[in-house]
Amino acid sequence: MQNTNPAIENRAPALEQRFVQLFGESPRIYQAPGRVNLIGEHTDYNDGFVMPAAIGFYTRAAVAPRPDRKLAIHSQNYSEQVEFDLDHLPATGAGHWSDYVVGVVKMLVRSGKKLGGVNLLVDGNVPLGAGLSSSASIEVAVGYALLDLAESSTITRTQLALLCQRAENEFVGARCGIMDQFVASHGKRGQALLLDCRSLDLEYRQLPSPEVAVLAICNTMVKHSIAKGEYNQRRAECEAGVRALSKYLPQVRALRDVTPEDLERYGHELPEVVVRRCRHVIGENARVLKAAAALERGDLPAFGNLMLESHRSLRDDFAVSCSELDLMVELAEGVEGVYGTRMTGGGFGGCTIALVQAGCVEVFRRTVREGYERSTGRTPEIYICAAADGVDRIA
Ligand code: GLA
Repeated sequence: MQNTNPAIENRAPALEQRFVQLFGESPRIYQAPGRVNLIGEHTDYNDGFVMPAAIGFYTRAAVAPRPDRKLAIHSQNYSEQVEFDLDHLPATGAGHWSDYVVGVVKMLVRSGKKLGGVNLLVDGNVPLGAGLSSSASIEVAVGYALLDLAESSTITRTQLALLCQRAENEFVGARCGIMDQFVASHGKRGQALLLDCRSLDLEYRQLPSPEVAVLAICNTMVKHSIAKGEYNQRRAECEAGVRALSKYLPQVRALRDVTPEDLERYGHELPEVVVRRCRHVIGENARVLKAAAALERGDLPAFGNLMLESHRSLRDDFAVSCSELDLMVELAEGVEGVYGTRMTGGGFGGCTIALVQAGCVEVFRRTVREGYERSTGRTPEIYICAAADGVDRIA
């Protein structure tokens, strides 16, 4: 599946050459994609439903074994190399790009995998800090590469995703849910994933062909530094909702188990802000299931309306949008041929996604870019994407 973004080219041969230059031998090369979430935001850590797709932006990992117990990691993006001793890995991350790699290595070791020394070169074109899951793509690419190199085929893609999520939760220190690592592992060309984040049951849903409609990702170019703290706070507010509601409804283990009627009935026992957070999650779970059904019947207008409702709920009830995301949504909504649009990912900056009728893409690009530039003085990046495959060896 092709991206029509000219900045994306196949960099595998160049990566191989660079690896030979750095380490003096030929590597195996692997890639894992970034992702965009179509609908189902802030539902994964509430045991709910999500519908993301992998996109054709990748992190590539070139690897070859070395005879000692060293882990040498070179980042092409940061032009920097670091080394670790496999038997003395740090206890937690240091706020460095290599945390994502070391965290995964640590979790592999902790799960009993016998790893030998390795030279590793990573390179990626997933826009950083844009909410397109560059971190999950590096984790999954590296995890898959090291397991393949160690000929450890006993781990499933789902186990790999869980291991990478653990690396992010426990080593990097971000309390993310399972969505990003899962889609980097299980992505499928042309398909969206419908994932039940409690059971991890996965179904695929065919996306419209590019001749019918495309996914347009609009990067606000805003990275909000508050994102991590706010993310953890939203999680805590959801947990507070569960704690309070389970006093009246003992079967409630997560917001997934709460119905709109439950919230109506017991909401007055909860702080108003917690009610709003719960209302978003409960409504969003229902929207994901409705969106999956709409996609099955080929009802793109219905799908698009659910995207718009999702955005309003994220903006007003969950309060994770920002003025630039709202502006981008407003601009896109006004363009002919746009079925729907919303912020995507954790929020507080990053990207929006729009589902756009095929013949209307050029007008969409122009209108959104000009409108956004006029109001903010920033030039947005717009990527026309199609759903891509998950992690794999490519050379
Ligand atoms: C981030 C997290 C995901 C998910 C989204 C919000 O991308 O990594 O686990 O919670 O935010 O839907």
